[in-house]
Amino acid sequence: MNDRTALISPSLLSCDFAQIARDVEMIEAAGADWLHVDVMDAHFVPNLTIGPPVVKAISRVATVPLDVHLMISEPARYAEAFAKAGAHVLTFHWEVAPSLEEARAVIAAFRDAGIEKVGVSVKPDTPVEPLAELFDEVDLILVMSVVPGFGGQSFMGEVLDKVRWLRGQGYQGWIEMDGGINAETIALCAEAGTDVFVAGSAIFGAEDIPATIAQFRSTAAERMHVG
Ligand code: DX5
Ligand code: ZN
Repeated sequence: MNDRTALISPSLLSCDFAQIARDVEMIEAAGADWLHVDVMDAHFVPNLTIGPPVVKAISRVATVPLDVHLMISEPARYAEAFAKAGAHVLTFHWEVAPSLEEARAVIAAFRDAGIEKVGVSVKPDTPVEPLAELFDEVDLILVMSVVPGFGGQSFMGEVLDKVRWLRGQGYQGWIEMDGGINAETIALCAEAGTDVFVAGSAIFGAEDIPATIAQFRSTAAERMHVG
């Protein structure tokens, strides 16, 4: 048994960008706990999405926390811009600051900018072990279950071992999984120790979005309490 709560963070990458405000209101009414915002710079990842002005616009209509996933090369440089834009959780990639010294500099920049919850993420091929030294310094570890860059990819089950390892080491913070989450894969993630679940295509592409979020939440909650 544990007392973790399942948090569902729909990825706005799969919303209609011409109707962001409408989709934010719709997805919140449908039960979203957080809103996952994917920021890509066409450098760290091949895709290019949105920046601080659009995050700020989203924060004007959002009432739940913005969970901003930075897939960019120089996260510290933009800490203040994203803090001012209304990011609540701000996550950077370990691969762009791959030493404790560099990662700590990014974390400090985020905290100095006033970010409440700091996250660090690893791509599917990046080992998670170095993050053990940062357990007390971050609020969230985002384990990517697809190669970052695009929505709609298939879940890579091999990354579940990273989640088990983190919990086995006694990490108590949030573990978020991102990529290819659907009604089946969410159960595996929850069993392994994940408590924040990002889903883009499986939620925005669902016929009944409130029912899908409710089903994700109940499946996750059930499986989180198995182990
Ligand atoms: C991918 C992004 C994800 C993406 C997930 O690089 O980080 O947040 O939106 O999309 P799905 O749920 O469709 O795999
Ligand atoms: Zn993401």
